[in-house]
Amino acid sequence: NHGVGVLTSGGDSQGMNSAVRAVVRETLRQGHRCYLIREGFTGLITGKIELATWAHVARTAHIGGSIIGTSRCDEFRTSDGRKKAGKNLFAKRIFHLIVIEELFAAGVITEEVANEGRELRLAGIVGSIDNDCIESDKSIGSDTALHRICEAIDGLVMTAQSHQRVFVVEVMGRHCGYLALTAAIAVEADYVFYPEMPPDDNWPEQLCHQLDSVRKFGKRQNVIILGEGVVNSKGVKIDGKKVKEEVETRLQLEVRIATLGHLQRGGAPTFLDRLLGLRMGYEAVQEILRTEDEDGSPLIGAKNVAKVMCLRGHNIERNDMSRVIRQIETANEETCNGSSDLAC
Ligand code: F6P
Repeated sequence: NHGVGVLTSGGDSQGMNSAVRAVVRETLRQGHRCYLIREGFTGLITGKIELATWAHVARTAHIGGSIIGTSRCDEFRTSDGRKKAGKNLFAKRIFHLIVIEELFAAGVITEEVANEGRELRLAGIVGSIDNDCIESDKSIGSDTALHRICEAIDGLVMTAQSHQRVFVVEVMGRHCGYLALTAAIAVEADYVFYPEMPPDDNWPEQLCHQLDSVRKFGKRQNVIILGEGVVNSKGVKIDGKKVKEEVETRLQLEVRIATLGHLQRGGAPTFLDRLLGLRMGYEAVQEILRTEDEDGSPLIGAKNVAKVMCLRGHNIERNDMSRVIRQIETANEETCNGSSDLAC
């Protein structure tokens, strides 16, 4: 009988509860103990660990956010913090941990406990609206966030049309332009700024030329989507105010800024995010409790078995966690290269 811990960490995302539910139910179904670790790594460090029952997760898949709480935990970034976390896990005989998060923190705990001569099996599930995990086609929450963005912009277009206004819509995504770019396509935006394609110095002319030409065809409103993390050639963040100023002075159009903010992380998950959460949760349990290596030989110890569940086409693959983390970090560094305004 194994003890499996589950926690959510970093920014919440819609569909995480479906993953937690699948982890709890599949672990119990296989006859093991499952523990809910509340408030992310903060709760792991302070010992907020509770034995889960089947009923704990009943009717939770349709709820947004994380019902077990999440946090961005600075203490876990320190060796002392991770040692405390390890102690709390082992005190309850938990040697298997499933972490649903943006994947910046989890990997390091295995090194910490290995240094102390202990073994911890770790599985990661990417829960983030940003969809910035290169190895996975989708992260849990990104589909719902896109729905929120589209709904909001559809609403804005109605009022923009009445007043013949331009809306600059600021969307989240940190260093990744997935939300900005795909939303722009779906809402028929006139212009999009996203971090992977930093605008060159004459972006104001290009933008205004584009707006002007669609206005000449009779369009009464414009939508400009501005992704988070967009910087100019000097590495300075381009914000909604700057875009507004340029359009107002060059085109004499009325411009309003809408910052969608945390609404994008709110509300009930879509069908797709519920299903993705469920499938990833189920796979993570299979991964963490497997007794054989990929080649069929008995799996001894925890060495090299930290895996991340990734969606590839219709399949869930299990990829090496350290590689996935390295790739996310490299991509982030490349995107915010030279930026002084972004915490890379
Ligand atoms: O990573 C998800 C995300 O929503 C980013 O898009 C955004 O930059 C960040 O989290 C906001 O974080 P917080 O909720 O801590 O303000």
